[in-house]
Amino acid sequence: MSATTYTIDDLQAHKSRESLYMLISGKVYDVTQFLDEHPGGDEVLLEEGGRDATEAFEDVGHSDEARDMLPKMLLGPFDGPTKVAKAAGATTASSGGSTGGDYKFLLPVAVLVAWLAYRFLVAA
Ligand code: HEM
Repeated sequence: MSATTYTIDDLQAHKSRESLYMLISGKVYDVTQFLDEHPGGDEVLLEEGGRDATEAFEDVGHSDEARDMLPKMLLGPFDGPTKVAKAAGATTASSGGSTGGDYKFLLPVAVLVAWLAYRFLVAA
């Protein structure tokens, strides 16, 4: 029983200018103080209050600088179903930007290498 976890009810209870919680990648953030500072404006944050803002946050392509601001606003982990089930926690941990994570392009290369190895072994 270490950290407090937050539920969808907690999010729903804090979606106003007076107190705004936001769910990003499985973690809940208190962005109330950040409303006036957000370069993207307070409107977009208020719109995402009380629900999973992971997609909206990622779609903007926020910089590493933006991601570095998140820990200061962290309240705790979210407990319960999220709409974006994939990669909970992974996004903030790697702060990877555009290059990380997707190795699908390596598949043809792997197939080619396997084929060459096979040919080599069969020929030998
Ligand atoms: C606590 C969460 C958030 C933080 C810390 C944050 C931080 C920032 C920062 C630092 C920028 C400046 C550009 C950059 O460094 O990437 C920015 C821009 C922007 N943000 Fe956020 N943001 C957050 C959440 C959101 C959400 C949920 C949305 C969308 C619903 C959003 C929409 C935008 C947009 C549209 C811009 C571009 C503004 C422009 O260039 O005119 N942000 N944000």
